[in-house]
Amino acid sequence: MPQTTPPHDWTEDNLQSLQSHILAEEQAHPEATGDFSWILSAIALATKTIANKVRRARIDDVLGELGETNTHGESQQKLDVIANDIIKACLGARANIGVLVSEEDEEPMVLRTHAEGGRYAVLFDPLDGSSNIDFSVGVGTIFSILRLEDGHAAKGVDAILHDGAQQVAAGYVLFGSSTVFVLTTGNGVDMFVLDQSIGAFVLVKSKLRIPEANSTYSINEANTKQFPQGYRNYLDWAHDSNYTSRYIGSMVADVHRTLLKGGVFLYPPTDAHPKGKLRLMYEANPMSMIIEEAGGRAISDRGRVLDIKPDSLHQRSVVIMGSPEEVAHVERFLDS
Ligand code: AHG
Ligand code: MN
Ligand code: MN
Repeated sequence: MPQTTPPHDWTEDNLQSLQSHILAEEQAHPEATGDFSWILSAIALATKTIANKVRRARIDDVLGELGETNTHGESQQKLDVIANDIIKACLGARANIGVLVSEEDEEPMVLRTHAEGGRYAVLFDPLDGSSNIDFSVGVGTIFSILRLEDGHAAKGVDAILHDGAQQVAAGYVLFGSSTVFVLTTGNGVDMFVLDQSIGAFVLVKSKLRIPEANSTYSINEANTKQFPQGYRNYLDWAHDSNYTSRYIGSMVADVHRTLLKGGVFLYPPTDAHPKGKLRLMYEANPMSMIIEEAGGRAISDRGRVLDIKPDSLHQRSVVIMGSPEEVAHVERFLDS
């Protein structure tokens, strides 16, 4: 009797693009109105375009600094501004987006009132880790989606200053050795990779879970002498416990590795950034939602990141995020 291969279950294992996956998710949620797929398809279009720009940066001579500073007084890379313009060009056209908030712009961009259909705010870091661009190190785009209430335009920034637990979706696209789109809409974490040959993000992992533990920490140790004592005690313990250190200097790359392999990513208070360096609304919050949706934890020096009530659009936060057991190890030293 010839060995028959087990029947393939075609209802389960099939090719899913980002678009088809989002539509399938929407069908699972009758209350969904198709708004999300419209916004996420714009983010997919924008990030495919940015990926192309990033990969051609040296050829197109758009590396290096622009010679101007952004709202935080940080020197802008040429690609920061190019990525920012691409995202606004793609998202601005989507009729259900009311407000755009960018790391690169001081003020929010009010596109449409609630009456004009503006239902969502999209907040983004157009190019995270951009100081690494010239050396072909992983960089990425981080985004956060909040729902807007009626009257949002009149309220201005106050309509957007929600705690991270209010996010309806969050994600990032990592422009690394492959272009990876990681997304959560509050129903687990899904990962897609850009298949250049067909120009589509294809689903490679759904309901991704972060490992419970992994003896790896990710921190800029050059700042150790500036860290509060609890962090230094944690690092001494980690050094005595045979931990590995991995630090790329692009949050999107360091968090992606932490999500897949486990471990903990930390940006403690420093002299230059006593409240932490990473921006709450479009770096810490979206990454915290992803880590928590994958079964991890994300805290700051003020408790759970997603519970922080923001005071201003570009405020910064301490972040300690990753495997639950690894975050607990850090927490123990901060509490002692
Ligand atoms: P951005 O490029 O958007 O300004 O973000 C840079 C951030 C983040 O990507 C990274 O984790 C952190 O800066 C690295 O800071 P240090 O160089 O101080 O370690
Ligand atoms: Mn950033
Ligand atoms: Mn940035």
